Order: sequence, then structure tokens, then C-alpha cells
Amino acid sequence: MVQVLDSPPSSPHIPVLLTPILNAVEPVHGRWLDGTFGAGGYTRALLDAGADCVYAIDRDPEVFERAKHWADEYGDRLVLIKGTFGQLDKLVAEHGGVPLDGIVLDIGVSSMQIDQAERGFSFMQDGPLDMRMSQNGMTAADVVNSADEAALADILYLYGEERASRRIARRIVEARKTTPIKTTKQLCEIVEAALPRAKPGQVHPATRSFQALRIVVNDELGELVRGLVAAEAVLATGGILAVVTFHSLEDRIVKRFIQTRSEQARSNRYAPEIAATSPQFEKVTKKAIGPTEAELVDNPRSRSAKLRLARRTSAPAGTIDAKALGLPAFDYTRLN
Ligand SMILES: C[S@@+](CC[C@H](N)C(=O)[O-])C[C@H]1O[C@@H](n2cnc3c(N)ncnc32)[C@H](O)[C@@H]1O
Repeated sequence: MVQVLDSPPSSPHIPVLLTPILNAVEPVHGRWLDGTFGAGGYTRALLDAGADCVYAIDRDPEVFERAKHWADEYGDRLVLIKGTFGQLDKLVAEHGGVPLDGIVLDIGVSSMQIDQAERGFSFMQDGPLDMRMSQNGMTAADVVNSADEAALADILYLYGEERASRRIARRIVEARKTTPIKTTKQLCEIVEAALPRAKPGQVHPATRSFQALRIVVNDELGELVRGLVAAEAVLATGGILAVVTFHSLEDRIVKRFIQTRSEQARSNRYAPEIAATSPQFEKVTKKAIGPTEAELVDNPRSRSAKLRLARRTSAPAGTIDAKALGLPAFDYTRLN
């Protein structure tokens, strides 16, 4: 059972790139969706800035327990929904919230999740090799102990951009023959032993492998694509889409989505079947927005954050090819 926390957590999550989001949508009004509620930093800021209502989704049941001590302040202006933002269209429609005036997605894990050793996200602390944001389904230990060597190598390469993926996969398979890999420390040591020691300024050798496993356990990139497609379906004309990402695989998907959805689709002699359609979004800023020096000082975890913003047009929502958005083609049935 989830423990109810009466007081704020000791290491609260500091909202990232919140000021540029609020500046882009001034004045904040209407119905918003926060697809990654976490510690509620964006949700509270949107409500305090004038949103009539915020539908707040998170897949981690624990975040709602943590919000208990303040959520009532906002009465029925705040609707808490447990689920994944890949289904945000259905979830919000069930609560009568469609169409929406804005959607914010702050992709990834929260500081609270990383800092709790028992959630298994961090190689800096020993804990069970879990990594499930939703606290159900397949764990990272399940993947590491049951996937075949080729599937493990593909996961590390596609989702961690790990060049030594084959070497690490081989070491994992060798190690698990004698002892099942159950903890973050065990996995960290296997990866460290397979790679040269990090030079000053380089990331810890286990960073990429942990990222890859977290992405696959939570199907993070699949969720992102589904969330963007769903956002297009439920945003009102003029509605804002704001997405904050933390690594290149995520940012590539958001960048391509906004790029392709803000271009006029035209048929040509190579693709005559494409009907000319008006774009579904227009870019709010040409480039991604990163943290300011001041934000970096306050919150070093913002260093790799990128914000992309787009405004919904009145064009009807269309269909989208996930592969064209750069979604790595890993076949999840290889893990069954
Ligand atoms: C970076 S934190 C968000 C922090 C939040 N913006 C704040 O200011 O407190 C990401 C949160 O999104 C949740 N999350 C990640 N992927 C999700 C998904 N596909 N659906 C729903 N929630 C998700 C995580 O459980 C985590 O609580």
C-alpha cells in the first residue's frame, strides 16, 4: 500500500522551464491538461496564473498521495487522474474536459522518483532494479534477467545510444548465469566493468544503460508519440502544446512532430496520394528553449531540458506515422 505523506517530501521536484511556458501563454485561461503532474509544480502555477481548471494526469499513484495536503485548496478546479498521457484524449473526455486550451508535458522521471532508492531509477544508490513509474508491469530486473542477448544489445543501443551495447549485453548474460541481477548496484558494477573508466567531465558509464532500461520499462517514447497524437485531437483552435524533454531521443520526436504538423502537406509526383492539407500546428518559437544561467544555478537538473511550443490551428486532426517521428523500431514482443 502507498504511504500517505503528510508533509512535503524532503527533496521536492523543482519545476523546469516554467517561466518560458507561462510567458508564452499569457494570459493563462481556460481548461488545461498537465500530463505529467509529478509534484504538481506546473499544475499549481497554471491554476495560480488563471487557468479555470487543470486536468492533472500521472501514471505514478504515489504523486497523488503526496498532493493530498494541498490539492483541496483548488476545489473542483483541479481534477487528478491516474493514467498515462498516451491516453490523454480518452481520459480527459471521460471527465468532460475536451476541447482543451493548453497541454503541458514534462517528460521523464521526477526528482522524487530518482531520489527514492527503492524505486530503482538511480545507479547512484543501491535499490531493487525496478524503474516502473506506474508501479506495475515488467521491471528492469525482469528485462535484464530474461531478454536474450541480442534484444538487450538493441535496447541499450536504440534507447541509450550506447556504443558498447553488445559488450555490455554479453556481460549481463554472463553474470546472470551465476546470480540473477536484482539490484541497481549489481547492474551498475556489470556495466562499469564492461567500459573504460569515465574521464573527468564524462557522464558515469552506467548513465546510458540505465536510461535505456527506464525507457523500455515505461515505453516512454511510445507514450510520447501517443501523447502528441492525442494532444492534436483534443486541443482547441489556438490551444498551446508545451513539451519539455531531457534527452535527444525525446527531443527528436517532439521536434519532428512540430515540424511535420506545422508544414503544409502537399501531394507531389513521388507521393501523389497525399491530399494537400493545412497544418495542424504553428510553431510558437523557431528553436527549442533551454534553461537560463539563473535556472541552471537554482536547479542543475534542468541542464539538458528543452522546451518546444506550438499552437493548434483550426485544421482537422490527421494521422501520423510514428516512424517518421524518429521512434526507434524496437519490437516489444521480443520481451514476452
Ligand atoms: C519530470 S516529472 C514532472 C514534474 C512536474 N512538471 C512538476 O513540476 O512537479 C514527470 C512525471 O511524469 C510522470 N510520467 C512520466 N511519463 C508519464 C506518462 N506516460 N503518463 C503519465 N505520467 C507520466 C512521472 O511519473 C513523473 O511523476
